[in-house]
Amino acid sequence: MKTHAHVVGWGKYVPGRVLTNDDLSRMVDTSDEWIRTRTGIRERHVAEDGETTASTAIRAARQALEVAGLRPAQLDLIVVATVTPDYLFPAAACLVQDALGATHAAAFDLSAGCSGFIYGLSVAAHLVCAGVYRTVLVIGAETLSRITDWTDRDTCVLFGDGAGAVVLQAGEDEGGVLATLLGADGSGGDLLRLPAGGSRNPASHQTVAEGLHFIQMKGREVFRFAVRTMPAATQQVLEMAGLSLADLNLLIPHQANQRIIEAAARALDLSPEVVYSNVERYGNTSAASIPIALSEAVEEGRIQPGDLVVCVGFGAGLTWGAAAIRWTRPQPVPAPRWRRFLRGLRYNLAAFRSWLLRLWRRLTALWTRDDGSGVPARDDGRRGEGRP
Ligand code: ACO
Repeated sequence: MKTHAHVVGWGKYVPGRVLTNDDLSRMVDTSDEWIRTRTGIRERHVAEDGETTASTAIRAARQALEVAGLRPAQLDLIVVATVTPDYLFPAAACLVQDALGATHAAAFDLSAGCSGFIYGLSVAAHLVCAGVYRTVLVIGAETLSRITDWTDRDTCVLFGDGAGAVVLQAGEDEGGVLATLLGADGSGGDLLRLPAGGSRNPASHQTVAEGLHFIQMKGREVFRFAVRTMPAATQQVLEMAGLSLADLNLLIPHQANQRIIEAAARALDLSPEVVYSNVERYGNTSAASIPIALSEAVEEGRIQPGDLVVCVGFGAGLTWGAAAIRWTRPQPVPAPRWRRFLRGLRYNLAAFRSWLLRLWRRLTALWTRDDGSGVPARDDGRRGEGRP
């Protein structure tokens, strides 16, 4: 029997701190009117000190697991799509794995700009359908505020922070992720990039002085690319699923700019009710934008079991992607208080476990030989013998 990848959990988290257009107009030469009419954005959420991509991802992931009614130990894989990981390495996904106590999960990050979540969803769905994994957590999470030049009005008005997550699980019932489509055109890499901090321009006094650790974007060209790509990808993924626009219940486009969303809707001849938008409240949260929108749409009752949903995105790379999903899960009933308490306790235990493992590693480092073999230092008289 064929295995399908169903969305069984969803969640989102945005930082509490809100930055309005008026706040921005006190920081750079802009106005609420310009930002609203050119982008549709009114406000965005910005990470507090101490909040990171992994910490926001963890909050969204916990919610998604709660909705799914699953324990972290049931996860087989965690994928975090992000362009703002806490570190170049270790992967943010590993920080999430540790904090959740997902002791049986593999974990990796994925970089595909704002299309990252669709890329992650596609990889996860294929692994589930192929029978490799049963339960996969896919997260899109960003703290773009950390790579935004707050003196550059061309870019700083656009971005926000947050995270969204879904849990995919194998099932034999029809539905779930029906088809996915991914695309890339690296020739447009210079349209949207973070020039420094990688192997080409490692961090130096000069790169910092030149502001190369901030997002650089050619907005108009990205705009044109987005308006061209999103309608085509939507149609293609529907064809791949053997469906058409007439079957569509809700389109969830990447939330970058209301004008881009409306242009895509016009090109597809879709009425506004069929196209989800929350860019007004969050701005562009890159890889987090689609899963945040998806979670909100379910919470608002805009997605019901049996509905056909298409998520479509574009982003740095250049990349694009679309996913057609037949929704199969109803809204969950809120868990009783005692169950929420137990879940909280489980995460405290995960933190304790992580602390114990670190302590154990330190102790064994004192106790073992310094040749890196990991063999206890109490000499057996054959130190290093026979090893390469
Ligand atoms: N406030 C006031 N004026 C501004 C601002 C601002 N914040 N920003 C730009 N302007 C000015 C410009 O300087 C320009 O002035 P000029 O005519 O005197 O030169 C004028 O407004 C028009 O600028 P444009 O760039 O032509 O404005 P446009 O209508 O194209 O809107 C925008 C700019 C919002 C950036 C748009 O091009 C856009 O949304 N592009 C797509 C961006 C995007 O989606 N990026 C994310 C990709 S996903 C990822 O992977 C992160």
